[in-house]
Order: sequence, then structure tokens, then C-alpha cells
Amino acid sequence: MNTNLNIICEDFSYIKGFLKNEAGIVIDEDKLYLVESRLSPILKNEGLQSFKELVIKLRLERFGDFHQKVIEAMTTNETSFFRDFHPFEAFKNIITNEILNEKNFERSFKVWSAACSTGQEAYSIAIILNEMKEIFKQWEIKITASDISKEMIDRASRGIYNQLEVNRGLNDYYLNKYFKFNNHGWAVNENLNSMVQFTRINLVGYWPEMPVQDIIFLRHVLIYFDIPTRREILNKIKKVLKPGGYLILGVGETTNNIDDSFDGVHIGKTICYKLKK
Ligand SMILES: C[S@@+](CC[C@H](N)C(=O)[O-])C[C@H]1O[C@@H](n2cnc3c(N)ncnc32)[C@H](O)[C@@H]1O
Repeated sequence: MNTNLNIICEDFSYIKGFLKNEAGIVIDEDKLYLVESRLSPILKNEGLQSFKELVIKLRLERFGDFHQKVIEAMTTNETSFFRDFHPFEAFKNIITNEILNEKNFERSFKVWSAACSTGQEAYSIAIILNEMKEIFKQWEIKITASDISKEMIDRASRGIYNQLEVNRGLNDYYLNKYFKFNNHGWAVNENLNSMVQFTRINLVGYWPEMPVQDIIFLRHVLIYFDIPTRREILNKIKKVLKPGGYLILGVGETTNNIDDSFDGVHIGKTICYKLKK
């Protein structure tokens, strides 16, 4: 019993280090059970006898699908349409108007959902902008959505949701206007789907070159990282977000005491972080 526990503790330390290095994800010391329960299905599927074997495979093999699977199993993908409501109200009622005024000449609007999970955040943004399509007529609108997880990106770009998922945040009007029920579930319509480009980006790794963004949604992901990693990511965000552009964080997330290049601005019932000019 003790021997087993020791082995698991050693392996736990390795897995913790691996997740921190590769994805920035910090696993607390008391989360051994979480690692066990999330990674057990991988042991089974890969025919591995123990966590020791899993760790050996992680150590010895070149980074590839197996490593990616371990990372994906340890991410938390909780999300919903119009999650927390108020940030999307701020986006719809205030931020889009600012963009309309500021960029009326250039007529381009770029939004990035930077940890999009199964895509509900990106489609919520697309719905808002589609509802304003008369106002944004002749504008180039580009919504990029990314996540570290290939599985999440595949699901998000397919855009098919079960009843429970559409019940969370979508009203009947949007559901009937933008989704169609088929054998697989509620499928997002082609128009909305085509408004979003999905791609894999690891926030703690290399970022592909991207155009300067007007707004970045970076919601409910910084919480999984330690302060130096958050600082590093905010530093990279500053290079991609236009001066005066908004960073929209999740509930309980802030740039305060991490990076003072952002001003917290109250918009309605939420706080958005505006990159200082
Ligand atoms: C809790 S979900 C948040 C989804 C959405 N932004 C929201 O607020 O509803 C967190 C997402 O962050 C992703 N994630 C975790 N670590 C990441 C990293 N290093 N790079 C990019 N995405 C990451 C996970 O795969 C997961 O889909």
C-alpha cells in the first residue's frame, strides 16, 4: 500500500511538472485524486499497467499525440453560451459602439476568443455581431477562436451541441435563429459557423503571428496558471491587442498586481481591462 502510494507520489510530481512546463497548468499538491481520475482512462486505452508506465512513456517518447492527450485530459473545459451574461452585454452595448466610432474609416473589427473550449464563447460573440450586421455592413469582421486542446477545437468547429448545452445561455430566439436540430444535436448554422476561424494555440507556447486584435476574450483560463505565467501571457497579449483595446477576463480574474498596462473599466455590471495607450 505504502509502496504504491510512494510510486504514485513520485509520478504525480513528474506529471505536475510536465503539465506546468507544457501547458502552464498548475496542479495543487492535494489534487492527486484529480490526476488519478482524469488520467485513468488513458491508462486503460493505452494498455498501460500503472502511472509509472505512463510517466515512462511521457519521459521517453517524443512529444506527440500521447502527451497531448495527457494535457487535454487535465484541462477543465467548462463553458456556456453568453457565460456570466454581463461581459457580453458590455461587449454588445458599449464596446461595439466604441469600435464603430473609432474604426469607422478602417472598417475592420477583430475579436479573439483565446481559450474557447467547445466554442460557445466564440459563437456568442458571432451572434452579437450578426445581430448588428446592418450596422456593420461593409465591415471586415474576423473572429478567431483558439484553445490548447485539439479535441475542443474539433468540437467547437463542428458546432454541435446537446440539449443541456443549448439550454445554458441561449434563449429560444437565438436557438431557433442560429441552430438546427439534427440527428447529432443542435448544429450551428453555416453563416454563424463561417464567422469564426478555429485554431489551436497554446497560450504558454509559441503564438503564431496574428493581426492586431480590437478585443480579446481570455476568460476562465488565467486561473489555472501561476502569477509568472499569467504575467508572461499578459505580456504577449499586449503585443496582439491594440492600444485602447479591451481584454475581457473571467469572473475572479484580473490584471491587477500582475501587469499595470491595463486599466480596469467598469462597463455595466462588469469590469473590462483596457490596454493603456
Ligand atoms: C474553463 S474553459 C473556459 C472557456 C471559456 N473561455 C469560458 O470562459 O467559458 C478553459 C479552457 O482553457 C483551455 N486551456 C487551458 N490551458 C491552456 C493553454 N495553455 N493554452 C490555451 N488554452 C488553454 C482549456 O483547454 C479549456 O478549454
